[in-house]
Amino acid sequence: MVSLLENPLRVGLQQQGMPEPQIIVIFGASGDLTWRKLVPALYKLRQERRIPPEITVVGVARREWSHEYFREQMRKGMEEAHGGVGSEELWNDFCQGLFYCPGNIDNPQSYQQLNILLNKLDEMRGTRGNRMFYLSVSPNFFPEAIKQLGSAGMLDDPYKHRLVIEKPFGRDLASAKSLNVVVQKYCKEQQVYRIDHYLGKETVQNLLVFRFANAIFEPLWNRQFVDHVQITVAETVGVEDRAGYYESSGALRDMLQNHLMQLFCLTAMEAPNAMDADSIRTEKVKVLQATRLANVQNLECSAVRGQYSAGWMKGQPIPGYRNEPGVDPQSITPTYVAMKFLVDNWRWQGVPFYLRTGKRMPKKVSEISIHFREVPSRMFKSAAQQRNANILAMRIQPNEGISLRFDVKMPGAEFRTRSVDMDFTYGSFGIQATSDAYDRLFLDCMMGDQTLFTRGDEVEAAWQVVTPALSAWEAPTDPATIPQYEAGTWEPLEAELLLNRDGRRWRRL
Ligand code: BG6
Repeated sequence: MVSLLENPLRVGLQQQGMPEPQIIVIFGASGDLTWRKLVPALYKLRQERRIPPEITVVGVARREWSHEYFREQMRKGMEEAHGGVGSEELWNDFCQGLFYCPGNIDNPQSYQQLNILLNKLDEMRGTRGNRMFYLSVSPNFFPEAIKQLGSAGMLDDPYKHRLVIEKPFGRDLASAKSLNVVVQKYCKEQQVYRIDHYLGKETVQNLLVFRFANAIFEPLWNRQFVDHVQITVAETVGVEDRAGYYESSGALRDMLQNHLMQLFCLTAMEAPNAMDADSIRTEKVKVLQATRLANVQNLECSAVRGQYSAGWMKGQPIPGYRNEPGVDPQSITPTYVAMKFLVDNWRWQGVPFYLRTGKRMPKKVSEISIHFREVPSRMFKSAAQQRNANILAMRIQPNEGISLRFDVKMPGAEFRTRSVDMDFTYGSFGIQATSDAYDRLFLDCMMGDQTLFTRGDEVEAAWQVVTPALSAWEAPTDPATIPQYEAGTWEPLEAELLLNRDGRRWRRL
C-alpha cells in the first residue's frame, strides 16, 4: 500500500485523512509561539483524533531544559493561553510524546545529537523516520538552520523530511531571494512549507469557495462592475513585548507583505485550473506579477506609513509607540501602513485595491470589501443624503461572515431609499469558524498538502510589489515627518487623503 505521505498524488483541500506518525521538531521551542500556538494546536488535533497517538514533538532551543521541564512549560502554556488541558488522561498521554533537546543553531554537533535523539524516538514511538522541521526562530537564523539541517543529511528525503518556515520570509526582495537559494540548495520545493497563518483561517479559505463555487458573482468580479476594493486588517493591540522584533520589521513587513497580500491574491486572482496547491499558487503569482503600487513617482499617492501616538482605549491611557518598552524614542518604524495597488490585467485594469493595516486601531477587524460601481443615474433620494453603492463585505474576523449591502425603499409615500445589509454569519452554522489556523496548517503539512503555504516565487513576487515603498522608507528620515495617529483612532490624515484624492473614503468598520 502506498502511504499518504509517500503518495505525491494525494493532495487537495477536501481530503481529510489521518497523517502518518511523525516527529515535529520545533526550533526556537523556548519562544512564545511554541507554548501559545504550536503545541496547543497539536494537542487540539490530538483531542479531535485527527493525528495518530505516535505524533512526537521535540523542542530545540539554547536553554538547558530537561524533557520534564519542557513538558511543564507546555502545560503552563495550555493553562495560560487555553484555560487548561481538558482530559488529564489525554494530556498525560500527549505529554509523553514531548521531548526537548538543547542545541545551538550554528553548532553542527547539536544536529548530530538531535539526529541521535530522533532515531531513538523512531524506535521508541514508531515514527518511521518521518520528520517535520519547524523553524520558529528569529528570521536571521533561517539560512543557518537550513544549511546545518541540510549538511547533516536531515533534509535528504523529499517525502519523509519537511521544512516549515515561519514568516517573515526575508526582509526585502534581495534577502527573500537569497533565502530561497539556500532553501533550494538543500530541499526540493515539495518539502518546503512557508507559513502565512492567515491562509489557515476558515474565512480566508472560504474566499476561494465564495468566488469559485458560486456562479452569480463571477460576472461582476471585474473592472466593469467593481469600482474599487478595500482590504483592512486592524488590530487593537500595540507592539506588546515584541519591540525587539517589531522595530526591525514594522507594519509593512509584519502584516502587509504577507497576510494582506494573501487576502489580496485570493480576491484578485483568476480561477485556478484545479483546487490543488500548484494551480492555486500559480494564479497567485500571476496576479502579483501584474500588480504594482499606483504611483511610484509620487509615493504618497500610493503608500502611507504611520505610527500610533499616545491616546485612550477603553478608558485607559495608551502610550505612544515611541514610548513603548524597548522602542527607540526616535523610531521611524511604521505601526500603520496603507497602500494603493493597481493590477495591470484584463480583469482589473483601472480598479484600485486599497490595503491598510495598523496596530492600536479602535477595533480588531479584518475585512475585504468589494465596492461596486454606482447606478448610472440616480433616480431616488437617499434617506442618508448620500450616494450608496452596493458593497460586498467578507468579514475575516471577528463576527466571521459575508454581507451584501443594497438599497431598499423606505416605507411611505415618497421614493426614499435606505441601505440595508443582507448578512450571513458563520455563527449560524452553530460551529466556530475560527480555529487558530495553526492546527489546520500542521495537519496539511503532515499530509503533504502545500495549498495553504506560499511558494518561493510567490513570496518574491509579493516583495517585488512593495519594494518601491520599502526602499524609500529605508532612507534616513526625520522622525518628525512620520505621520501620527492617536492610539484608539483610525488612520493618520495622510491615509485618509490616499482615498479622498480619488473621491473615495475608507469604510468605517
Ligand atoms: C502576526 C503578526 O503574523 O499576525 C502580529 O506578527 C499580528 O503582529 C498577528 O498581531 C495578527 O494575527 P491575527 O490572527 O490575530 O489576526
